[in-house]
Amino acid sequence: MAKAQRRSGKTWGGRFQGKTHPLVDAYTLSLPVDRRMWREEIAASIAHARMLGRQRIIKRAEASAIISGLREIGRDIANGKFRWRDDLEDIHTNIEARLVQKIGATGGKLHTARSRNDQVATDLRLYAMAACDRIMEAAKRLQVALLDLADANRRVVMPGYTHLQRAQPVLLAHHLLAYVEMIERDIQRFASASDEADALPLGSGALAGVPYPIDRDGVAKELGFSRLCENSLDAVSDRDFAVDFVAAAALCMTHISRLAEEIVLWSTAEFGFLKLPDAFSTGSSIMPQKRNPDVAELARGRTGHVQGLLQSLLATLKGLPLAYNRDLQEDKRAFFEAEDTLLETLTVFAAMIPEFTFDEARGRAASSANYALATDYADLLVRNGLPFRQAHEVVGKLVRYAEGQGKEFSDLTSQEFQRFSKLFPEDAPKLTVDDALRARSARGGTAPRQVGAQLRKWRRQLQD
Ligand code: ARG
Repeated sequence: MAKAQRRSGKTWGGRFQGKTHPLVDAYTLSLPVDRRMWREEIAASIAHARMLGRQRIIKRAEASAIISGLREIGRDIANGKFRWRDDLEDIHTNIEARLVQKIGATGGKLHTARSRNDQVATDLRLYAMAACDRIMEAAKRLQVALLDLADANRRVVMPGYTHLQRAQPVLLAHHLLAYVEMIERDIQRFASASDEADALPLGSGALAGVPYPIDRDGVAKELGFSRLCENSLDAVSDRDFAVDFVAAAALCMTHISRLAEEIVLWSTAEFGFLKLPDAFSTGSSIMPQKRNPDVAELARGRTGHVQGLLQSLLATLKGLPLAYNRDLQEDKRAFFEAEDTLLETLTVFAAMIPEFTFDEARGRAASSANYALATDYADLLVRNGLPFRQAHEVVGKLVRYAEGQGKEFSDLTSQEFQRFSKLFPEDAPKLTVDDALRARSARGGTAPRQVGAQLRKWRRQLQD
């Protein structure tokens, strides 16, 4: 048996006579993907070894030898001195094999009362909790960038749109704070994905539990888990926390993608509200005049990829019988790609957004053009006693008339207004964009006072 194990070089080589086919080695290899969990692997192994010693499942001296061996390995990996071996399949076998090499046969006792199945689930849960923290930090930085931009452009107004048709004027700050709200919900989702991950699988063994007097609570405490996975079969095959993470990432990317789309639109000659900074624009290899919003476009494009990762992870899980199946190895690919893409996207957006400059005059002009104040004229009639539905009708006719004359509201005389309703004031009403903004002072509206209060609220909240 020892000979066969030597020949196959595998931790599980005992029952095999011959070697695996090189194509199988290559196909099953997960080291390039899972080695990024080395910190978690070392930490979980140290906690496990310490527990084995404490419970007298192995000798205390053996546990100490294992722990110092693992610490050394951790240092080697951190310093780039660890020799990773693709022929050893994954992160777990690489570290265990190196441990045996370092401290001898005692190293082989580390795997008492555990399996790679509960091990990999433990590593990924630890990794997920840390990843959630990283994402929440980066998301908060994007919120601050949006808030700073909103604050620096408090007076800028733009047309708000529905159906991408000019609808009613809004403050740019109000528009930007809508994204701050979205990202806040994303942060909450990552906090809850982290809670979902916060349960210890270790101690579940391969699937059925372990026949040793282990102390799972102690291991959980050392690793910072606040609870245990309570069913060993579920523990080794549950990847709900990964689904939650990737789902939260897909939705967060979706929010950024909507912002990206607006950046693309606003920076066109047609909209012309936003000037992209040089440092965040790209040119064309043929058209010298071009200034392209490639960062926004790539974020929009990569959102599709992250949405696909969610679908891919769900599809991986849907046909799996209990308990562990090797398909589960693919969870990490989806997880890490979602994490990397989202983190990069949050980071580049947080750097890009403070560099935006807005064309205030153009935004203001566009805000009152195309009868964008029509609702406000109707509201004026309502205040003079007309039911809103009739006021809507009157102003609709007024718009049709003005359009026929090639005039804006501001060009109409009092006689022209009066022809449509005697409830219009004697002097032709001259509503402005600022009137329209100020009027929307109910909570949640775009009135400068409301938006100012929101800016202050977010400033306080994001400073903590
Ligand atoms: N590399 C594997 C994974 O990521 C580790 C668990 C392997 N377990 C097994 N029984 N082959 O899922």
